[in-house]
Amino acid sequence: MQMQDYTATREDRFTFGLWTVGWQGVDVFGSAIRPPLDPAEAIHRLSDLGAYGITFHDNDVFPFGADAATKEAHLAPLRKALDATGLTVPMITTNLFSHPVFRDGGFTNNDRDVRRFAVRKALDNVDLAAEMGAKIFVAWGGREGAESGAAKDIRTALDRYAEAFNLLAQYTIDRGYDLRFAIEPKPNEPRGDILLPTIGHALAFINELEHPELVGLNPEVGHEEMASLNYAHGLAQALWHGKLFHADLNGQTGPRYDQDLRFGAGNARGAFWTVDILENGGYDGPRHFDFKPPRTEDMDGVWASAEGCMRNYLILREKSRAFRADPDVQEAMRLARVDELGVPTLADGESLADLRAEPFDPDAAAERGMGFERLDQLALEHLYGVR
Ligand code: GCO
Ligand code: MN
Ligand code: MN
Repeated sequence: MQMQDYTATREDRFTFGLWTVGWQGVDVFGSAIRPPLDPAEAIHRLSDLGAYGITFHDNDVFPFGADAATKEAHLAPLRKALDATGLTVPMITTNLFSHPVFRDGGFTNNDRDVRRFAVRKALDNVDLAAEMGAKIFVAWGGREGAESGAAKDIRTALDRYAEAFNLLAQYTIDRGYDLRFAIEPKPNEPRGDILLPTIGHALAFINELEHPELVGLNPEVGHEEMASLNYAHGLAQALWHGKLFHADLNGQTGPRYDQDLRFGAGNARGAFWTVDILENGGYDGPRHFDFKPPRTEDMDGVWASAEGCMRNYLILREKSRAFRADPDVQEAMRLARVDELGVPTLADGESLADLRAEPFDPDAAAERGMGFERLDQLALEHLYGVR
């Protein structure tokens, strides 16, 4: 088999959150195990590894509550590093979860003054996103949720959630910004139950907004798999609705805490189908990694982990291409009648009366096997590297 060296290039459009390589390893059981990472250093290192861009929360770059001068003092070296490397910022997101004021969330906090503060913080960050040329504004509502039943009226919370997106969308329209919003669903963690827990919940919510055309999704591998859902199927449905605005790629092993492993670690078979749909399903945004280099790693391990995300994507991209080009696979797909699903059930010009009058022998049809095992085995053999 033809092996390339799997080194990322700008054309691959890989992007990383500054909070990923910059994660110091603070978790619920332990304190920081790595030093703070200067954003400019992260930009240079990621550029050397072949990345295309970076993304960040407001407070990954400047402290919570920073005044205009302090913000600029932190943004200046970041801008300089972007200029020096040619890296871009395709997406920006807002931290509405770390400060204690967000203990009950931002947009859906029971306290109205906190909600108003959250909208102000997001609006400031929308201005920054537009100024930095970001086209996507991710909204992950990690603290928008509850642990206790009576504490929050979910229907009313959804009213407030929709109100916040309506205000943000109207603001971008009024300012003429070329910016769209991408909701990131997650079922739980840090809240016991989070609002808009899955791709499906978020899609339905978007339809109730005043500007649904400006709001789409940023689904994350780990979050859908925490809910035992099929991430690649979720991506496919988001694409079907025209709502796959962005995607967070990482690794997860089944329904447990949010592992944020490097992309390709965890559910490897799921990762294969994830790359396959991203490459063939009409998605044209950046390939964004939202992972956490494990606490076992020093800074060398962090860069190895970041590089691993990109290498695994490129390896799986090659495998997906080889799978689809394999004549045995094409024959197995034909036998599995994969193309027949593309034929409308009712023919053009045919009536329901025609359909109802058609003779059919269900017992004979029930004899037909689908041939899916042969096809799936071929996929696994490509994945396992023996074809
Ligand atoms: C998580 C989330 C976050 C968000 C990020 C962007 O791992 O729980 O994915 O990493 O993606 O905060 O808003
Ligand atoms: Mn994420
Ligand atoms: Mn996550």
